[in-house]
Amino acid sequence: MLRTHNCNSLNIDNVGEIVTLCGWVQKTRDLGGMTFVDLRDRYGITQLAFDIKKNKLSCLEARSLNREFVVQVKGLVIERESKNNKIYTGAIEIEVNELTILNRSKTPPFTIEDNTDGGEELRMKYRYLDIRRKPIKDKLILRAKVSSETRKYLDKQGFIEVETPYLIKSTPEGARDFVVPSRMNEGQFYALPQSPQTFKQLLMVSGMDKYYQIVKCFRDEDLRSDRQPEFTQIDCEMSFVNQEEILNTFEGLTQHLLQTVKGIRPAKFPRLSYQDSIKKYGTDKPDLRFGMEIVEITQLCQKKDFSVFNESELVAGINVQGCANYSRKQLDKLIEFVKTPQIGTSGLIYCKFNEDNTTKSSVDKFFNEQDKKEWKEKANCKNGDLLIIMAGEKNKTQRALGALRLHLANQLNLRNPEKFAPVWIVDFPLLEWDEESKRYHAMHHPFTAPKNEDLVLLDKDPGNVRANAYDLVLNGNEIGGGSIRIHDKELQQLMFKHLGFSEREAKEQFGFLMEAFEYGAPPHGGIAFGFDRLCAIIGGQENIRDFIAFPKNNSGRDTMINSPSLLSQEQLDELSLDLKINK
Ligand code: AMO
Repeated sequence: MLRTHNCNSLNIDNVGEIVTLCGWVQKTRDLGGMTFVDLRDRYGITQLAFDIKKNKLSCLEARSLNREFVVQVKGLVIERESKNNKIYTGAIEIEVNELTILNRSKTPPFTIEDNTDGGEELRMKYRYLDIRRKPIKDKLILRAKVSSETRKYLDKQGFIEVETPYLIKSTPEGARDFVVPSRMNEGQFYALPQSPQTFKQLLMVSGMDKYYQIVKCFRDEDLRSDRQPEFTQIDCEMSFVNQEEILNTFEGLTQHLLQTVKGIRPAKFPRLSYQDSIKKYGTDKPDLRFGMEIVEITQLCQKKDFSVFNESELVAGINVQGCANYSRKQLDKLIEFVKTPQIGTSGLIYCKFNEDNTTKSSVDKFFNEQDKKEWKEKANCKNGDLLIIMAGEKNKTQRALGALRLHLANQLNLRNPEKFAPVWIVDFPLLEWDEESKRYHAMHHPFTAPKNEDLVLLDKDPGNVRANAYDLVLNGNEIGGGSIRIHDKELQQLMFKHLGFSEREAKEQFGFLMEAFEYGAPPHGGIAFGFDRLCAIIGGQENIRDFIAFPKNNSGRDTMINSPSLLSQEQLDELSLDLKINK
């Protein structure tokens, strides 16, 4: 046996035992007669003590140890003089008799400690060293726990895990495909799945009834902190179910995960229609950890001589509680924020309801005390509150207020990472108009079923057809999305037509699915969770990168293995690829 215990398993109860430990040298401290070493492994840290009087050789060897050397020590567990009650092993140390160096290490390029001196680039290049650090290691352990609890829950509910292929053809999830050339089929390419969507629907036709898979998906899209080109989904599908049953099943999964991983059981998840979500929060992924809802005051504002309001489709505000004392500088900063290109508005109007019952607004020239009183009541403001008003085209104004709401919540520390506020967003529009291509696109994907009662609108008012589609939002992040599917060939064909696919294109891309629908497809529906996002939110963060062992950087590169990279001419020839770039 190389070791009898790990570095987080000994405490005061083990005093007097002879033990053998293995691990990495975190740091050494030489105090003349005594040398102390912190020995680290995945489980924790144990202090080693080398006494020059008792074992001169080992002590001298210990002094020569560098950071990250891999060692094995044998010794006696003794009680420590100065205890560290922050760690499990903090009351003991190992009085070492034998020290064996199992491997040496170059000095690492950054310190392997909780607060490292290594920048992001360096940490990515040496990711295997970064993972030795507790904050990263703990995130991967949390991920493993979320994964195993997911399996436990779904297995218990009768779901069967089925693997679907990675070398497939294009799946329409709205991003670009990553493609793989086929050596055996000259000039032809596989596409990596953007999701297993079509396969899981085929599994329903196969009668699998309840399917799940924790599965890699690939999307060639612009990267953000919550997006990676390869990411993982908890992908699920069920037969003979309606939307209600799906929402309940996966609300159950989310509750199970929050309970087993965080010890929290949130109450029944609220549901919000897409329309209401946009109206109240300016987004379809609202953060409900705090209020600050958007309040429409158009009617109250258009009776005066203020042309900005009079010419606006929507005038609306948010009540920023307790912020009437914001300084000119603070307000200017907010104006700057809403003028940034990503928000793109021309400014904002404020109204302070002061503690002493006075009011002060940036439009006092146009509105009197009575007007402001009306705004105050409508927006539920109290003395001490600040009302921020924006006006303009409805959609844009709602989105801008939504962004400002989040910005203010960050500033005011209202987004507590230990608090969990899930919400189902339902009744999504089926189609979304795309200005660039001048046609409708499926908002979710083309297999999503429209609401029966809205089918009549499909021809004359397609933009107002609602879908049986839903998203699960947690703390302002879309962590899952799904829908009831079309299981009828005619309706699916009609859908493809509305999405601008010619009959030939539809047949070419999805003929296999349409054919399958001719062999008794059951009514079915499902959902996919973004597993990396779910882990990040449960772990109290929004950046998914550290919850992935080996992530890509913002340019889609893995700088550790230096990928993507060029192929040799031989490989290119074998794949019949004639690339201009290599010439
Ligand atoms: P959707 O495209 O909404 O649905 O994806 C499901 C969830 O996957 C996560 N996600 C991502 N996470 C990290 N990086 C990315 N690039 C990325 N893209 C998406 C999100 C999202 O909610 N087939 C359908 C599901 C279904 O209808 O059952 C689908 O893939 O959290």
